Amino acid sequence: MRIIGTGSALPDKIVTNDMLAGFLDTSDSWIRTRTGIETRRMLSTGTLRDLAYDAAMSALESANIRGSKIDYVICSNVANSYVSPSLSSILLNRLGCKCPCFDLNGACAGFIYALDIAESFLKTGRAKNILIICAEEPTRFCNWHERETSVLFGDGAGAVVVTTGNNLMGIRVTADTHTDVLYYKRSMERTPYDRVEERTTPLVMIGREVFRLAVSASIKDIDTLMKQCKVTSEDIDLFLLHQANLRIIENIREHLGQPKEKFPTNMQHYGNTSSASIPILLDELHKEGRLNDGATLMLSAFGGGFVTGAALIKWSQI
Ligand code: UT7
Repeated sequence: MRIIGTGSALPDKIVTNDMLAGFLDTSDSWIRTRTGIETRRMLSTGTLRDLAYDAAMSALESANIRGSKIDYVICSNVANSYVSPSLSSILLNRLGCKCPCFDLNGACAGFIYALDIAESFLKTGRAKNILIICAEEPTRFCNWHERETSVLFGDGAGAVVVTTGNNLMGIRVTADTHTDVLYYKRSMERTPYDRVEERTTPLVMIGREVFRLAVSASIKDIDTLMKQCKVTSEDIDLFLLHQANLRIIENIREHLGQPKEKFPTNMQHYGNTSSASIPILLDELHKEGRLNDGATLMLSAFGGGFVTGAALIKWSQI
């Protein structure tokens, strides 16, 4: 696999910590010191479909390829207002794509899961060009009367185009059942025969437990991948980690013993955008010219499930 295009799109609406402190029992200083987040973007007048479209178009332009040349569209999305059809189906015609598509839910690790699947399609010759779109609106899962989760998230979309190549040095995805620490339960229609009372709930998160799982799982993924690929943390130029909490990234960084400059972050501006966080960061670094030809990138993410994923990539100039 080789990444040949990147794109991202964020809603215009900027929501500061102080704005949240206006109606929640929280403060700018608590949110900054506990998470690193200063502002987040939230969908207000637009839709997730538009955001996903903009990110995808920007990735196609960056790859200098038309939608009609794409052989598969994979969309990573935890939930949006449509249960069916998939977000990728909704976008397909607008993007000019005439190929199969599907959505996957790998929670915040969805981008790494999508890369893993794309690599298999490329290896077996099922596809040559694949468009991966990660589009998320986690702010719509939260209880906005409670401070615990609503301050953490932001909406956004990131996309990449991948083609055949030798730049994926290694990839690892994992899953384990810890469904009680992070979940969002929506309602379904009742049938005349349904006798099970199911309680729905906005996003529930046992923050400290997720924090602990996140740090240990990411460290394990990164260490395992480095060993498999016979590289050390010194050999890695940039660590692009899931943008959930600056303190989680600090814990991983301390374990790896690498300088802060190797851990670019943007959660300060966007909050946690779920599976979109790494492709948004990748697009920003690419467009800012911070990805040198031949640079070694370690990507690592974790999310509800509990699922995790890491990928080691050699960057070639687009
Ligand atoms: O991609 C999804 C994955 N999710 C994550 O990665 C989240 C992982 N967890 C975290 O990032 C952190 O656990 C949080 C940021 C969610 C919480 O930080 P913490 O340092 O673990 O705080 P805590 O949950 O232990 O709470 C400490 C205190 C509590 O008050 P008491 O019991 O000490 O009086 C909370 O009630 O902070 C309180 N608190 C808040 N205070 C102000 C919790 N949320 C807030 C808030 N504003 N928004």
